[in-house]
Amino acid sequence: MTGLSVPTSSWPFPETGLPVAMAEAAFEHRISAPADFAAAGIPMPPELAEAVPMRRAAHLAGRVCAREALRACGAPGSLVGRDRSGAPVWPAGYRGAITHAAKVAAAAAIRADACRGLGLDFEISMTGEAAAEISDLVLRPADLRGIASLTGLSFEEGATLVFSLKESLYKAIAPLLGTFAGFEDAELAGIADGRARLRLVRRLSDDLQPGTEVDCVYALSGGLVRTLAVLA
Ligand SMILES: CC(C)(COP(=O)(O)OP(=O)(O)OC[C@H]1O[C@@H](n2cnc3c(N)ncnc32)[C@H](O)[C@@H]1OP(=O)(O)O)[C@@H](O)C(=O)NCCC(=O)NCCS
Repeated sequence: MTGLSVPTSSWPFPETGLPVAMAEAAFEHRISAPADFAAAGIPMPPELAEAVPMRRAAHLAGRVCAREALRACGAPGSLVGRDRSGAPVWPAGYRGAITHAAKVAAAAAIRADACRGLGLDFEISMTGEAAAEISDLVLRPADLRGIASLTGLSFEEGATLVFSLKESLYKAIAPLLGTFAGFEDAELAGIADGRARLRLVRRLSDDLQPGTEVDCVYALSGGLVRTLAVLA
Protein backbone atom coordinates (compact mmCIF):
# COMPACT_ATOMS: atom_id res chain seq x y z
CA MET A 1 0.00 0.00 0.00
CA THR A 2 1.39 3.42 -0.89
CA GLY A 3 2.13 5.33 2.29
CA LEU A 4 2.76 2.23 4.42
CA SER A 5 5.94 0.19 4.28
CA VAL A 6 5.70 -3.58 4.52
CA PRO A 7 5.92 -4.31 8.25
CA THR A 8 9.23 -5.97 8.96
CA SER A 9 10.43 -8.00 11.90
CA SER A 10 12.82 -5.92 13.94
CA TRP A 11 14.68 -6.43 17.19
CA PRO A 12 16.78 -3.39 18.19
CA PHE A 13 17.05 -4.58 21.82
CA PRO A 14 19.39 -6.87 23.75
CA GLU A 15 18.08 -10.44 23.90
CA THR A 16 15.38 -11.15 26.49
CA GLY A 17 15.41 -14.93 26.18
CA LEU A 18 11.65 -14.76 25.55
CA PRO A 19 9.82 -15.55 22.29
CA VAL A 20 8.68 -11.95 21.67
CA ALA A 21 7.93 -11.04 18.05
CA MET A 22 8.07 -7.41 16.98
CA ALA A 23 7.16 -5.72 13.70
CA GLU A 24 7.78 -2.13 12.63
CA ALA A 25 6.52 -0.04 9.69
CA ALA A 26 6.88 3.51 8.39
CA PHE A 27 3.63 5.25 7.44
CA GLU A 28 2.27 8.52 6.11
CA HIS A 29 -0.94 10.35 6.93
CA ARG A 30 -2.36 9.57 3.51
CA ILE A 31 -3.31 5.98 4.59
CA SER A 32 -6.25 7.30 6.60
CA ALA A 33 -9.31 6.79 4.38
CA PRO A 34 -11.91 4.04 4.92
CA ALA A 35 -10.71 2.52 1.63
CA ASP A 36 -7.18 2.20 3.05
CA PHE A 37 -8.52 0.33 6.09
CA ALA A 38 -10.59 -1.91 3.83
CA ALA A 39 -7.59 -2.59 1.56
CA ALA A 40 -5.50 -3.60 4.57
CA GLY A 41 -8.31 -5.74 6.02
CA ILE A 42 -8.35 -3.71 9.25
CA PRO A 43 -11.64 -2.38 10.69
CA MET A 44 -11.74 1.37 11.33
CA PRO A 45 -13.00 1.98 14.89
CA PRO A 46 -16.10 4.24 14.66
CA GLU A 47 -14.65 6.48 17.38
CA LEU A 48 -11.71 7.31 15.10
CA ALA A 49 -13.89 8.26 12.12
CA GLU A 50 -13.61 11.97 12.94
CA ALA A 51 -9.99 11.82 14.12
CA VAL A 52 -7.30 13.73 12.24
CA PRO A 53 -5.80 11.76 9.31
CA MET A 54 -2.46 11.18 11.10
CA ARG A 55 -4.25 9.53 14.06
CA ARG A 56 -6.22 7.21 11.79
CA ALA A 57 -3.08 6.38 9.81
CA ALA A 58 -1.17 5.61 13.02
CA HIS A 59 -3.95 3.31 14.17
CA LEU A 60 -4.00 1.47 10.84
CA ALA A 61 -0.21 1.11 10.74
CA GLY A 62 -0.14 -0.13 14.35
CA ARG A 63 -2.80 -2.76 13.62
CA VAL A 64 -0.95 -3.96 10.49
CA CYS A 65 2.20 -4.35 12.63
CA ALA A 66 0.20 -6.20 15.30
CA ARG A 67 -1.10 -8.66 12.69
CA GLU A 68 2.48 -9.25 11.51
CA ALA A 69 3.79 -9.71 15.07
CA LEU A 70 0.99 -12.20 15.78
CA ARG A 71 1.79 -14.08 12.58
CA ALA A 72 5.43 -14.28 13.62
CA CYS A 73 4.51 -15.83 16.95
CA GLY A 74 2.14 -18.37 15.50
CA ALA A 75 -1.26 -16.69 15.09
CA PRO A 76 -1.60 -15.94 11.35
CA GLY A 77 -4.49 -13.75 10.26
CA SER A 78 -5.41 -12.64 13.76
CA LEU A 79 -6.72 -9.14 14.37
CA VAL A 80 -6.41 -7.04 17.51
CA GLY A 81 -9.63 -5.48 18.81
CA ARG A 82 -10.14 -2.35 20.88
CA ASP A 83 -12.05 -1.97 24.14
CA ARG A 84 -14.12 1.03 25.21
CA SER A 85 -11.12 2.64 26.92
CA GLY A 86 -9.02 2.35 23.74
CA ALA A 87 -6.87 -0.51 25.04
CA PRO A 88 -6.06 -3.22 22.50
CA VAL A 89 -7.80 -6.59 22.85
CA TRP A 90 -5.46 -9.41 21.85
CA PRO A 91 -6.64 -12.77 20.52
CA ALA A 92 -7.02 -15.50 23.16
CA GLY A 93 -3.66 -17.05 24.01
CA TYR A 94 -1.58 -13.99 23.08
CA ARG A 95 -0.47 -10.71 24.64
CA GLY A 96 1.04 -7.69 23.04
CA ALA A 97 1.38 -3.94 22.74
CA ILE A 98 1.20 -1.30 20.03
CA THR A 99 2.94 2.06 19.69
CA HIS A 100 3.38 4.87 17.18
CA ALA A 101 5.73 7.85 17.21
CA ALA A 102 5.88 10.38 14.38
CA LYS A 103 5.73 8.24 11.24
CA VAL A 104 6.77 4.90 12.71
CA ALA A 105 4.42 2.27 14.12
CA ALA A 106 5.31 -0.98 15.84
CA ALA A 107 3.78 -3.86 17.73
CA ALA A 108 5.11 -6.69 19.86
CA ALA A 109 3.35 -9.96 20.62
CA ILE A 110 4.02 -13.07 22.65
CA ARG A 111 2.19 -16.25 23.64
CA ALA A 112 0.21 -15.55 26.80
CA ASP A 113 1.85 -18.36 28.77
CA ALA A 114 5.33 -16.79 28.36
CA CYS A 115 4.74 -13.81 30.67
CA ARG A 116 2.01 -11.88 32.52
CA GLY A 117 2.31 -8.68 30.50
CA LEU A 118 4.11 -7.04 27.58
CA GLY A 119 4.55 -3.34 26.86
CA LEU A 120 6.12 -1.49 23.92
CA ASP A 121 6.65 2.23 23.49
CA PHE A 122 8.46 4.45 20.99
CA GLU A 123 9.10 8.15 21.66
CA ILE A 124 10.80 10.91 19.69
CA SER A 125 13.58 12.28 21.87
CA MET A 126 12.31 15.34 23.75
CA THR A 127 13.78 18.80 23.54
CA GLY A 128 15.58 20.11 26.62
CA GLU A 129 12.63 22.39 27.30
CA ALA A 130 10.12 19.53 27.14
CA ALA A 131 12.30 17.32 29.34
CA ALA A 132 12.52 20.06 31.96
CA GLU A 133 8.74 20.48 31.84
CA ILE A 134 7.91 16.79 32.42
CA SER A 135 10.74 16.15 34.85
CA ASP A 136 8.83 16.87 38.09
CA LEU A 137 5.81 14.84 36.98
CA VAL A 138 7.63 11.81 35.56
CA LEU A 139 11.01 11.46 37.27
CA ARG A 140 11.57 10.26 40.83
CA PRO A 141 14.94 10.73 42.59
CA ALA A 142 15.96 7.16 41.66
CA ASP A 143 15.19 7.96 38.00
CA LEU A 144 17.37 11.06 38.12
CA ARG A 145 20.23 8.99 39.59
CA GLY A 146 19.74 6.38 36.85
CA ILE A 147 19.84 9.01 34.11
CA ALA A 148 23.00 10.54 35.61
CA SER A 149 24.68 7.12 35.58
CA LEU A 150 24.22 6.72 31.81
CA THR A 151 27.28 7.89 29.94
CA GLY A 152 26.87 9.42 26.52
CA LEU A 153 23.22 10.42 26.97
CA SER A 154 21.96 13.98 27.34
CA PHE A 155 19.46 14.74 30.11
CA GLU A 156 16.69 15.04 27.55
CA GLU A 157 17.52 11.65 26.04
CA GLY A 158 17.59 10.13 29.52
CA ALA A 159 14.29 11.78 30.47
CA THR A 160 12.68 10.53 27.24
CA LEU A 161 14.03 7.05 27.96
CA VAL A 162 12.55 6.92 31.47
CA PHE A 163 9.26 8.37 30.19
CA SER A 164 9.11 5.66 27.52
CA LEU A 165 10.08 2.90 29.96
CA LYS A 166 7.17 3.94 32.18
CA GLU A 167 4.77 4.01 29.22
CA SER A 168 5.89 0.49 28.30
CA LEU A 169 5.48 -0.56 31.92
CA TYR A 170 1.95 0.88 31.93
CA LYS A 171 0.99 -1.13 28.85
CA ALA A 172 2.48 -4.31 30.38
CA ILE A 173 0.61 -3.98 33.67
CA ALA A 174 -2.62 -2.36 32.38
CA PRO A 175 -4.69 -5.60 32.31
CA LEU A 176 -3.80 -6.25 35.96
CA LEU A 177 -4.32 -2.72 37.26
CA GLY A 178 -6.93 -2.13 39.94
CA THR A 179 -6.49 1.63 39.83
CA PHE A 180 -4.86 4.31 37.68
CA ALA A 181 -1.05 4.16 37.65
CA GLY A 182 0.83 7.42 37.38
CA PHE A 183 4.46 8.07 36.58
CA GLU A 184 5.23 8.50 40.27
CA ASP A 185 4.15 4.90 40.95
CA ALA A 186 7.31 3.33 39.51
CA GLU A 187 11.00 4.10 39.59
CA LEU A 188 14.22 2.81 38.12
CA ALA A 189 15.79 -0.06 40.06
CA GLY A 190 18.66 -0.39 37.57
CA ILE A 191 19.69 0.75 34.10
CA ALA A 192 22.71 -0.01 31.89
CA ASP A 193 23.62 -1.29 28.44
CA GLY A 194 20.14 -1.53 26.95
CA ARG A 195 18.53 -3.13 30.00
CA ALA A 196 16.53 -1.55 32.80
CA ARG A 197 14.36 -2.62 35.73
CA LEU A 198 11.40 -0.63 36.99
CA ARG A 199 10.07 -1.15 40.51
CA LEU A 200 6.54 -0.39 41.66
CA VAL A 201 6.53 1.90 44.68
CA ARG A 202 2.90 1.41 45.71
CA ARG A 203 0.25 -1.28 45.58
CA LEU A 204 -1.68 -1.09 42.31
CA SER A 205 -3.69 -4.34 42.68
CA ASP A 206 -3.43 -7.75 44.37
CA ASP A 207 -1.09 -8.81 41.54
CA LEU A 208 0.95 -5.60 41.60
CA GLN A 209 2.44 -5.10 45.02
CA PRO A 210 5.07 -2.52 45.99
CA GLY A 211 8.52 -3.87 45.18
CA THR A 212 7.31 -5.77 42.07
CA GLU A 213 10.04 -5.40 39.44
CA VAL A 214 9.55 -5.37 35.69
CA ASP A 215 12.40 -6.12 33.28
CA CYS A 216 12.80 -3.78 30.33
CA VAL A 217 15.07 -3.42 27.31
CA TYR A 218 15.75 -0.26 25.36
CA ALA A 219 17.47 1.13 22.26
CA LEU A 220 18.15 4.69 21.08
CA SER A 221 18.87 5.53 17.47
CA GLY A 222 18.17 8.33 15.03
CA GLY A 223 16.36 10.44 17.64
CA LEU A 224 13.92 7.61 18.42
CA VAL A 225 13.74 5.92 21.83
CA ARG A 226 12.39 2.35 21.79
CA THR A 227 11.48 0.47 24.96
CA LEU A 228 9.91 -2.89 25.77
CA ALA A 229 8.74 -4.08 29.20
CA VAL A 230 8.00 -7.64 30.32
CA LEU A 231 6.07 -8.47 33.46
CA ALA A 232 7.27 -12.00 34.30
C1 LIG B 1 -2.36 4.70 26.89
C2 LIG B 1 -0.92 5.18 26.84
C3 LIG B 1 -0.03 4.15 27.55
C4 LIG B 1 -0.50 5.30 25.35
O1 LIG B 1 0.84 5.65 25.23
P1 LIG B 1 1.33 6.82 24.26
O2 LIG B 1 2.81 6.94 24.41
O3 LIG B 1 0.50 8.03 24.53
O4 LIG B 1 0.97 6.35 22.79
P2 LIG B 1 1.55 5.14 21.92
O5 LIG B 1 1.48 5.55 20.51
O6 LIG B 1 2.85 4.66 22.43
O7 LIG B 1 0.48 3.99 22.17
C5 LIG B 1 -0.79 4.09 21.65
C6 LIG B 1 -1.40 2.72 21.72
O8 LIG B 1 -1.46 2.29 23.08
C7 LIG B 1 -2.47 1.31 23.16
N1 LIG B 1 -3.24 1.55 24.37
C8 LIG B 1 -4.20 2.47 24.60
N2 LIG B 1 -4.68 2.33 25.85
C9 LIG B 1 -4.01 1.30 26.41
C10 LIG B 1 -4.07 0.67 27.66
N3 LIG B 1 -4.91 1.05 28.62
N4 LIG B 1 -3.25 -0.38 27.90
C11 LIG B 1 -2.41 -0.81 26.95
N5 LIG B 1 -2.30 -0.25 25.72
C12 LIG B 1 -3.09 0.80 25.47
C13 LIG B 1 -3.33 1.42 21.90
O9 LIG B 1 -3.04 0.30 21.08
C14 LIG B 1 -2.83 2.69 21.26
O10 LIG B 1 -2.85 2.69 19.85
P3 LIG B 1 -4.25 2.62 19.04
O11 LIG B 1 -5.22 3.49 19.77
O12 LIG B 1 -3.93 3.12 17.69
O13 LIG B 1 -4.64 1.17 19.09
C15 LIG B 1 -0.73 6.58 27.54
O14 LIG B 1 -1.38 7.59 26.80
C16 LIG B 1 -1.28 6.61 28.95
O15 LIG B 1 -2.45 6.85 29.17
N6 LIG B 1 -0.44 6.35 29.97
C17 LIG B 1 -0.90 6.26 31.32
C18 LIG B 1 0.02 6.91 32.30
C19 LIG B 1 1.30 6.18 32.45
O16 LIG B 1 1.95 5.84 31.50
N7 LIG B 1 1.70 5.95 33.67
C20 LIG B 1 2.97 5.33 33.92
C21 LIG B 1 2.74 4.19 34.82
S1 LIG B 1 4.19 3.77 35.66
